[in-house]
Amino acid sequence: MWYFLKRNKQVAAMLGVLGIAAVVVIILSTRTAHRLAADNASDETEDFSDDPYIFSTHKLPSDDRFMPSIGNGHIATNIFSDTIYMNGLYNGRKGESHRARIPSWANIRLNSTLTHMPYRPVYSLDTREAAFKVRVDRDRSIVTQRIYAHRFYTRAIVNQIQVVAKPHDPNFIHHEIWIAIKQISGPSSEDIEFRTPVPEIYDGRTIWSSCGSTKDPEDPSYQPLPVDVCAYWTSVPDYLVVPQHGSKVFTFVMTVDKNKTIARQEFIEVLQQDGEELYKKHVDHWKSLYHQAGVHIEGNLHLSKIVNGIWYYYLSSLPSQHTYHPPEKYYGLSPTGLARGGSLLDDYEGHNFWDTEFWMFPSILLLYPRYAHDLLQYRLDMAYVAAELAKITGNKGYRFPWESAYTGTEVTQPCCPEVAEFEQHITGCISYAARQYLATTRDEEWLKQGGCSIVTHIADFWASRAVINFNTGLYDIESVMGPDEDHSNVTNSAFTNVVAGYSLYLAQYVACLCKSYYMAKDPDHWADIAWSLALPYDETLDYHPQFSGYERGEQIKQADVVLLGFPLQYPMNMSTRVNDLSYYESVTRSSGPAMTWSMHTIGHLRLQDDKKANDMFNKSYQGYVREPFKVWSELQRPNVGAVNFFTGMGGFLQTLIFGYAGVSIHLDRLEINTPQLPPNTTNFKIRGIKYLGANLTLSISETSSTLVVESLDDEWPLTMNDGKYNITLVPGMSVTLSGSGPFKIHSTSWKECKLPEDTIGHNYLRPNKL
Ligand SMILES: *[C@@H]1O[C@H](CO)[C@@H](O)[C@H](O)[C@H]1NC(C)=O
Ligand SMILES: *[C@@H]1O[C@H](CO)[C@@H](O)[C@H](O)[C@H]1NC(C)=O
Ligand SMILES: *[C@@H]1O[C@H](CO)[C@@H](O)[C@H](O)[C@H]1NC(C)=O
Ligand SMILES: *[C@@H]1O[C@H](CO)[C@@H](O)[C@H](O)[C@H]1NC(C)=O
Ligand SMILES: *[C@@H]1O[C@H](CO)[C@@H](O)[C@H](O)[C@H]1NC(C)=O
Ligand SMILES: *[C@@H]1O[C@H](CO)[C@@H](O)[C@H](O)[C@H]1NC(C)=O
Ligand SMILES: *[C@@H]1O[C@H](CO)[C@@H](O)[C@H](O)[C@H]1NC(C)=O
Ligand SMILES: *[C@@H]1O[C@H](CO)[C@@H](O)[C@H](O)[C@H]1NC(C)=O
Ligand SMILES: *[C@@H]1O[C@H](CO)[C@@H](O)[C@H](O)[C@H]1NC(C)=O
Repeated sequence: MWYFLKRNKQVAAMLGVLGIAAVVVIILSTRTAHRLAADNASDETEDFSDDPYIFSTHKLPSDDRFMPSIGNGHIATNIFSDTIYMNGLYNGRKGESHRARIPSWANIRLNSTLTHMPYRPVYSLDTREAAFKVRVDRDRSIVTQRIYAHRFYTRAIVNQIQVVAKPHDPNFIHHEIWIAIKQISGPSSEDIEFRTPVPEIYDGRTIWSSCGSTKDPEDPSYQPLPVDVCAYWTSVPDYLVVPQHGSKVFTFVMTVDKNKTIARQEFIEVLQQDGEELYKKHVDHWKSLYHQAGVHIEGNLHLSKIVNGIWYYYLSSLPSQHTYHPPEKYYGLSPTGLARGGSLLDDYEGHNFWDTEFWMFPSILLLYPRYAHDLLQYRLDMAYVAAELAKITGNKGYRFPWESAYTGTEVTQPCCPEVAEFEQHITGCISYAARQYLATTRDEEWLKQGGCSIVTHIADFWASRAVINFNTGLYDIESVMGPDEDHSNVTNSAFTNVVAGYSLYLAQYVACLCKSYYMAKDPDHWADIAWSLALPYDETLDYHPQFSGYERGEQIKQADVVLLGFPLQYPMNMSTRVNDLSYYESVTRSSGPAMTWSMHTIGHLRLQDDKKANDMFNKSYQGYVREPFKVWSELQRPNVGAVNFFTGMGGFLQTLIFGYAGVSIHLDRLEINTPQLPPNTTNFKIRGIKYLGANLTLSISETSSTLVVESLDDEWPLTMNDGKYNITLVPGMSVTLSGSGPFKIHSTSWKECKLPEDTIGHNYLRPNKL
């Protein structure tokens, strides 16, 4: 899903020929000059903090794309950018729909950090407190600024500047301390027609407000009206003045909401709070978020920082659950998060892709199932549009668009109609996410509230896409594109057919689960199609060609067939898996996105080739994580691609949780297979794994692995089989996982429904079916 590749097919073809050199040229030609310097590795800023949760530097990255962000799922901004984005606020028609720019009246700078002054500011991203901090040690004072998107007052971005006078020489007469600051909100928005700001005096302070509407609705048939938005902010003076002995905290607030009353009420409420209390409330809400779950690494500071950074960035883009005003509908997690996606045709415009369900979802599901529910809810909310899309394209059921934003209509960028036309696997990936959600939650409410419907309608879509081939006796799926975007309009993409097959099987299973309240017409028909869906397999070479007619040796863009092994866990012989991994490794472009190497890592871990796995693991993040704030780029240094690339982070988290820790999700069990330490670590812990209402902690050290049962849900008693014995899990229990397992944790079966067959490629003409 490279942005520049999608934009221009000829470029893609050219890249194949010219390789990396061409990549560099193209990137340089599309970026502004100030960004050039940042592609210079020697330019990198250092993170000197030895706290795994704090990233500190004296020097900000010269490329502002590598600045960190703050956010709370409602609003987000990149630090020191003049722009704020809000959940569900887009402007632009169809493929031009992108996050709408709200000028950041919360962008406040200390002048001593803007110009060359003798002070060496310290800039820190504190992921524990979810705040960006600036500290300047001046001659007569210490100035500390903290910037955060409040986790409870989610409409608010808060700037607090504390000025503490230093003890002074009593022989001199000192005057007040004056600190120059500057609000830099940038030019007016091109996306939103804001009315002239209106001042008023509130409680002795000047406050401003302005409301406006987005200019171009995404699609008039689903969005007749523009969207309104209102902002409130405190006036920012030129100087902060503190008496000579004094110390003072100045609080500046900006709130944004679609609803003016809410923006105002929340603004006033925040303004009335004591500054320290306000901050404490924010930190406490983050604390409880982190308390619920976490991935902890010891013995490798760099790795633990990367992991902490990822959860910080993820949670900053996920909606807060305990809030002053109820949260608005959630519009999904896009590949660069909520703080980016505003410039037209850049950073994926804040759209939702398969990235969400396939790359980010699984780790979020295991640790924060409530957020996994929110992600699926976005698709449920957009299902009626997916039904229309299926109709328009002559199919049945739900066909989800390749790119989806405010209305759920297809918003793929105008450059690349072929991805919208062919990358239909997104619809299967949504079903696969639903499958994992059901596997770990057995959420009956979800099934009733739309789950039965979405799963079965996705199956209807695939059933309508499968055409019988009388030569083979198999169903083909024609005119698709797998994750490898170098090969367009192919037949029987192995990846697509497996997610399609799983979707069909899942619908049969779900039809049984839902039968007392949801009518499905002919569930077995779905399974019959799945059973006979073609799966390209080369018997001589014992591997899966990527699609029918794939010519061996052809280069591919990113992991595609390899995903059959993981995340899809498609049953195959060990030898086939080995061959798929080694063959596709040899034909994948070295300049691909990080997730390829994450999935190769997991593959080698499962095959117990640790050396190879560790090499791949290194490759999966080293070139992609940018210092000092652990922001991810889509492409390896020296290239950049989209930033901050949540998709790459997703692959990396999966490598830790499902690779090194060996966890895997199945419809009837949670498995732990050969848990081991990531390279160069001494301890690795996953806390707050949620499985069928139970809360589990998995700890891995050099000598042993332990599973602690923190709590259990009475409805789903759990048993663990260690290969020999069944152990009944009870709360408080700690089980040593001796040996490599697999350790299988299961409960009673769910409603006596038969589990899906889950294999495809069987000739329906064969008499020995089943
Ligand atoms: C990279 O940095 C070096 C040293 O500062 C400088 O000489 C060189 O011109 C830079 N290259 C680019 C492409 O910015
Ligand atoms: C602070 O810096 C800004 C931007 O450089 C400048 O416009 C402003 O005049 C400065 N303020 C003071 C009080 O020096
Ligand atoms: C805005 O919010 C207020 C307060 O919650 C509510 O009473 C009002 O109905 C909302 N207005 C709109 C247009 O939603
Ligand atoms: C799960 O257990 C961990 C470890 O005791 C605890 O920190 C966390 O709060 C628990 N999570 C939930 C949701 O109960
Ligand atoms: C896709 O391939 C089919 C069959 O080969 C062909 O008929 C169709 O025109 C192709 N579509 C595009 C957009 O290339
Ligand atoms: C897996 O290996 C067995 C034994 O070598 C063989 O009989 C079987 O056909 C293989 N399965 C596949 C899908 O190739
Ligand atoms: C890890 O990757 C980096 C960057 O890709 C490379 O420079 C380094 O040599 C690799 N280290 C190992 C141990 O493979
Ligand atoms: C682990 O650490 C050793 C020594 O510091 C280093 O040589 C090696 O490259 C590291 N391996 C990885 C995979 O990071
Ligand atoms: C363990 O439990 C499973 C599922 O309940 C059962 O099928 C199996 O026979 C049991 N194994 C032993 C050794 O008791």
